[in-house]
Amino acid sequence: MLQFLFYIGFVLQTSAFIAPPDEYACPFPTSKPELDSLRPLAKIYQDEREDGWWPFREVAGRESFVDKTEFIKYFLDTRKQLVLVAPPNFGKSTNLQMLKHFFQIPVDAMGANLTFNMAEKGTFFGKLAICKKHPSICSDYLSSAPVVSLDLESVVGSTPTTFLETFRAEVERVFRAHGYLAKSERLSAFNKEEFASYESHLGDPNRTIAFYKDGIDVLTRLLFVHHRRKCILLVDNFDRLAVAAMLGKDEEYQLPTEVEEIYFSLGETAKHSAFVSRTLLTGVFRMGSHRQGHDDNLLYKSIFADPQISQHFGLTLAEVETLIGRLGRSKEHSNVDLHGIKHYFDGYRISDKQIKIFNTGTVVGYLEGADEDDLIPSLPLFSIYKPLFRFELLGEHLQEAGEHGTNLAPQWVISITDLFQLREAVNANVTNFNGTHDKDLLVQLLQEAGYFTITARHPNGSVHLEIPCLAVKEAYEDLVYHDEFFVIEEEKLERELEADATKNNTHGHKGKKKGL
Ligand SMILES: *[C@@H]1O[C@H](CO)[C@@H](O)[C@H](O)[C@H]1NC(C)=O
Ligand SMILES: *[C@@H]1O[C@H](CO)[C@@H](O)[C@H](O)[C@H]1NC(C)=O
Ligand SMILES: *[C@@H]1O[C@H](CO)[C@@H](O)[C@H](O)[C@H]1NC(C)=O
Ligand SMILES: *[C@@H]1O[C@H](CO)[C@@H](O)[C@H](O)[C@H]1NC(C)=O
Ligand SMILES: *[C@@H]1O[C@H](CO)[C@@H](O)[C@H](O)[C@H]1NC(C)=O
Ligand SMILES: *[C@@H]1O[C@H](CO)[C@@H](O)[C@H](O)[C@H]1NC(C)=O
Repeated sequence: MLQFLFYIGFVLQTSAFIAPPDEYACPFPTSKPELDSLRPLAKIYQDEREDGWWPFREVAGRESFVDKTEFIKYFLDTRKQLVLVAPPNFGKSTNLQMLKHFFQIPVDAMGANLTFNMAEKGTFFGKLAICKKHPSICSDYLSSAPVVSLDLESVVGSTPTTFLETFRAEVERVFRAHGYLAKSERLSAFNKEEFASYESHLGDPNRTIAFYKDGIDVLTRLLFVHHRRKCILLVDNFDRLAVAAMLGKDEEYQLPTEVEEIYFSLGETAKHSAFVSRTLLTGVFRMGSHRQGHDDNLLYKSIFADPQISQHFGLTLAEVETLIGRLGRSKEHSNVDLHGIKHYFDGYRISDKQIKIFNTGTVVGYLEGADEDDLIPSLPLFSIYKPLFRFELLGEHLQEAGEHGTNLAPQWVISITDLFQLREAVNANVTNFNGTHDKDLLVQLLQEAGYFTITARHPNGSVHLEIPCLAVKEAYEDLVYHDEFFVIEEEKLERELEADATKNNTHGHKGKKKGL
């Protein structure tokens, strides 16, 4: 703890004059990201991805579990195709696992219903809010549908070949999770051949992305043939494709087209497939295809957009207090813990309301005494886009934004081309920086990753952003006022003075450098 306190002390000391203490907040993920991942998400499920049942049940058994099962009702009541975005560690993956576990029809290796497991699930959910408060939802929907659950976290874009291989591996994994289809009596020989071609690429190693991008559509059809029920389609980390492609090496510029195709195809399956009843995609960034048009049938929504949705993600203040009671050191310390959390990890505003939600990962990490270093926010976007934070490009604006906030008219969806354009500005040559467009795009990325919180919405659709976390403000300053900035400014000043001197035809007068 010492190191952590030292850090906080340092932050307080060096910046006490910038912001009043109430604004101190570090609502950030607890685990350190790999730089190339952009998503510091602690994955709970890594070893148990094949089965939605055990992971969620395991989470539900923990002391830190907060019952968010009423999200199932929201999922059923809301639109049929929804894309939810939120910064890491607000419980997106946990909620997806919960949906999968709730809806999935458990079957054996031959595809026959496992009635014992269904009964067990009934008992399990019977104790949770969804069944206690909405018994009809449980009787109608528990174990009621085949679920296709894709997680694109594992897709790596270091090269186009790696991209194909990792994307293919995930599609194959999802097919294998429904391996009983290969033995189903309801599938025709042709259906089984289709299934086999997606389950393993060994028969034809040369298949392209174009083939695999249709895989999910094919699987929903085959599942319908077997179960005679429409599927629920869940995609976690859907934005990972674009981010992975953007971070990789792609000299021939193949990936933007392929990623665009996959997003378009997933969107079409979600909206038009006769074999899909509902779709939920989750991720950090609003990645998608511009080709789809601004389409209410595939609604992008932030978990901070309104209290109806935000109550199912992150933690409310009341829930934080409950957790302190369970995980905190002792009754005597509970006020200290609450104060500590509010002080350093203050929450995100819901819309422009006073309601806030806290980052689950950070709060639980704090209460479980996580390694202090891990509680310090890590800011991968700052590293990736560092050159763009130069004072002359975005720095001055961000410095201003850190102090007084900034207005942004967000794009409803960010395309892979947008990301590549920004990458060009970073990689090649910052003179490629495309003024307002790139500035807004970068600010939007920062906001979606949680570096800003929205404090007001204007009727014209633009929002007012503020930085909720003191440590992030600090980091902005470090970036904006980097050493190079001083050198550049000094050189500029000298050049101006020299030019003046030459013009005035005087010599050796350099003047006093302005203190910066
Ligand atoms: C298996 O379970 C599903 C969903 O509960 C049900 O619709 C279907 O009729 C069951 N199939 C058999 C063969 O019992
Ligand atoms: C795959 O492509 C390689 C190189 O183009 C070729 O040599 C090989 O025969 C192809 N394999 C199959 C199974 O078509
Ligand atoms: C950056 O690009 C501009 C115009 O595209 C060019 O004039 C300049 O030489 C480039 N600088 C570097 C360092 O590549
Ligand atoms: C800047 O971005 C806009 C929007 O994407 C684009 O239309 C325009 O051509 C870009 N300008 C340059 C100079 O790249
Ligand atoms: C929207 O309204 C706000 C406040 O009135 C203003 O500051 C902002 O510039 C407007 N944005 C656009 C895109 O017109
Ligand atoms: C050069 O002349 C301008 C006005 O003519 C004056 O403002 C400036 O201070 C002079 N610079 C130097 C270095 O003497």
